[in-house]
Amino acid sequence: MGGRDATMVLLDENGVRCDGRKIDETRRIMIRAGGLKNADGSAYIEFGDNKILVGVFGPRDVHPKHMSNTDTGILRVRYHMEPFSVGERKNPAPSRREIEISKVIKEALEPAVMLEKFPRTAVDVFIEVLQADGGTRCAALTAASVALADAGIPMRDMVAAVASGKVADTIILDVNNEEDQAGQADMPIGYMPSLNKITLLQLDGVLTPDEYKKCVDVGVKGCKIVYELQKKALKDKYFGNGGD
Ligand code: CDP
Repeated sequence: MGGRDATMVLLDENGVRCDGRKIDETRRIMIRAGGLKNADGSAYIEFGDNKILVGVFGPRDVHPKHMSNTDTGILRVRYHMEPFSVGERKNPAPSRREIEISKVIKEALEPAVMLEKFPRTAVDVFIEVLQADGGTRCAALTAASVALADAGIPMRDMVAAVASGKVADTIILDVNNEEDQAGQADMPIGYMPSLNKITLLQLDGVLTPDEYKKCVDVGVKGCKIVYELQKKALKDKYFGNGGD
C-alpha cells in the first residue's frame, strides 16, 4: 500500500481500471471441484492470474495426540506459496506472511465447519499457491470451502471471499496485485451468504467511515458472485460432466 508506483494510472477518466475492468467487476473466476485422487476432497481455482490448488484430508486421527480435543474436531490449515509463484523467487521456508494467512483462513473457515460432529479428529486443509497476483488469501479461502464440501465435511455454509478496496479515491471490487501495491486500501472479506455472516475482514490502508461501509457492501456483493461459482463447481462435479 502507499503509492509505490506513482506513475501507474489505476483508474482512468472513463472509470476503467489498469486491467480494463469496471470498478465493480471481478477478475475472471474459474473453480473446479475435485481433481486430486489421493485427497478426500479438493478444488482448483483461477482467480484472475492467481492459480491455487487445495487438498483436504480427514476427518482423521490427530498426531500428536495431545492436540486432539475430546469435545470437538480440529481444523488445521497450511497456506503455502511455491517459490515460483511470484516474480521474485520466494524462499521455500515458511514465511511470517504464510503463517499469518494460514491462521486467518483457518479462523475464517471454522464458523462454517461443523467441527462438533467429529470429536478427537482433525481435518487438514493444504493450500498450494502456484501463481500469485494479489488476493491469494481470498481465492484460497474460496477454494478451501469447495474442497471441504467436496470431502463431504458437514458444513453450515461455504465461505466465499474477495477483496474490495480503494484506488484513486474510488471504492473498487476485487483488488489485483498492482492495485494492492499502488492503491489506497485493500479489504479482504470472507462471507457466508446463506447465513449472512462475515468470517474474514481485514483492512490494509485508511478509509473514512463511509468508505469503510461502502467497501464492506461492495465486498459482500462480490462474495455473492463468488458463491454462485462455488456452487456451480460442485454441481458440475456431482450432477454434470465436470469433475473426476
Ligand atoms: O495475496 P494476498 O493479497 O492475500 O496477500 P498480500 O500479502 O496482500 O500479497 C499481495 C500480493 O503480493 C500476492 O498475491 C502476491 O502477488 C504478491 N507477493 C509477492 O510478490 N511476493 C511475496 N513473497 C508475497 C506476495
